[in-house]
Amino acid sequence: MTTDLLLSVKGVHKHFGGLKALDGVSLEVSAGSIYGLIGPNGSGKTTLFNVITGFIARDLGEIVFQGQSLKGLSPDRIARLGLCRTFQANICPGRMTVMENMLLAPQRQLGESILNTLRRFRQVRRQEKENLQRARYLLELVKLGDKADSYAAHLSGGQKKLLSLGQALMVEPRLILLDEPVAGVNPKLIEEILEVIRRLRAEGQNFLIVEHNMRVIREVCDLVSVLDAGQVIAQGPAVETLKRDDVLRAYLAPRGGVSEEARAAT
Ligand SMILES: Nc1ncnc2c1ncn2[C@@H]1O[C@H](COP(=O)(O)OP(=O)(O)O)[C@@H](O)[C@H]1O
Ligand SMILES: [Mg+2]
Repeated sequence: MTTDLLLSVKGVHKHFGGLKALDGVSLEVSAGSIYGLIGPNGSGKTTLFNVITGFIARDLGEIVFQGQSLKGLSPDRIARLGLCRTFQANICPGRMTVMENMLLAPQRQLGESILNTLRRFRQVRRQEKENLQRARYLLELVKLGDKADSYAAHLSGGQKKLLSLGQALMVEPRLILLDEPVAGVNPKLIEEILEVIRRLRAEGQNFLIVEHNMRVIREVCDLVSVLDAGQVIAQGPAVETLKRDDVLRAYLAPRGGVSEEARAAT
């Protein structure tokens, strides 16, 4: 094992009834890289995220984060170890401001119930000046500095994704799992999100990204794994792997050959 190995997934299986959602998946994420996970709908990407972060239990296989097995650990224990995620669906309380959402983030990432979190909010506000400073810094970083006092409900879809990223960063995780960070986001904001991810990477933040947008994967990821029907069908440097015919066939042209259109889209 190399010293900079962050996350190791080995032979992970997950069945839902007769369906093999994950059928022996292995991958390794090292520090200093952005790792992409792609694959057609239903190939098992979300299930793998859920298994890694402890939201669902695997049937078989090993997941090790920074040398420690995650077997049987709850999502909050896993978050405390430095492995956090963003959620595809927005789960921020919309009637709270962007800043309030940021200040709640450490508790929520670490698994406290929303009720407890709200109860502790006053305490958080009183006690944690440091959190406030960090939240201000991070809101600038994710380009929401001027939105601190706006209600979260008033943010656009892309801005909510940036807020979700800012929240994950509040607990200074070693590795962040991003769930479709640009899905449904307008092109201008996609560029801003990519800029934020690149900047964070330059500052040493590690990411594992599930994303449908192949251009995004090609532009920000160093390595990728391609899932198809619960199995890794290709793994390697992003740009080369996305050009492979078997990948294009699985991902973009499930029936028959690879169209010119599909190739052009990558
Ligand atoms: N909780 C569940 N119960 C039953 N089947 C599920 C469940 N979650 C996912 N699946 C199935 O597992 C397969 C993989 O799903 P998923 O991981 O969501 O794929 P992806 O994220 O790549 O689109 C799909 O066939 C999906 O219908
Ligand atoms: Mg999914």
